[in-house]
Amino acid sequence: MERSLVLIKPDGMQRGLTGTIINRLEEQGLKLIALKMLHLDKALARKHYAAHRDKPFFENLVNYISSAPIVAAVFEGERAVKIIRKITGATDPAKAETGTIRGDLGLNTRHNTVHGSDSVETAEKEIKRFFTESEIFDYDRVIEN
Ligand code: RTP
Ligand code: MG
Repeated sequence: MERSLVLIKPDGMQRGLTGTIINRLEEQGLKLIALKMLHLDKALARKHYAAHRDKPFFENLVNYISSAPIVAAVFEGERAVKIIRKITGATDPAKAETGTIRGDLGLNTRHNTVHGSDSVETAEKEIKRFFTESEIFDYDRVIEN
């Protein structure tokens, strides 16, 4: 079973979209196994986006993601990483398909509402960066009466 890190970015939080985004992922059948609100400091923001450190938008990206509180979540499911990337949509909301989170709710490339890990390897590193083992939960998603 795969796990992926999801972040509700500052614009998602500030526009009241946290519940909607979590709901879209849960509706898809993904299981929410960790959840917290936090305000990223610049050091953690730089680590999270280290792959982009040489890009011209890096400092703006770090400043943005650390500008206000965010929500971090871990979702689990079969092929969770790819499925979440698909539900999330393209980086630029103008290019993201209708029906995706960014296509429906994103504003622009910076204010694109949500982050999802881009590979299984990245997901493992990202989850460890945001959550301890004791903050990740195991439970049965379906209750049978
Ligand atoms: P994210 O990591 O935030 O989930 O987004 P992503 O995988 O779809 O896109 P990525 O290439 O990892 O870029 C990370 C964030 O950097 C900003 N960005 N700006 N050309 C640009 O100005 C540009 N390209 C990327 C976006 O905010 C993107 O979410
Ligand atoms: Mg990315």
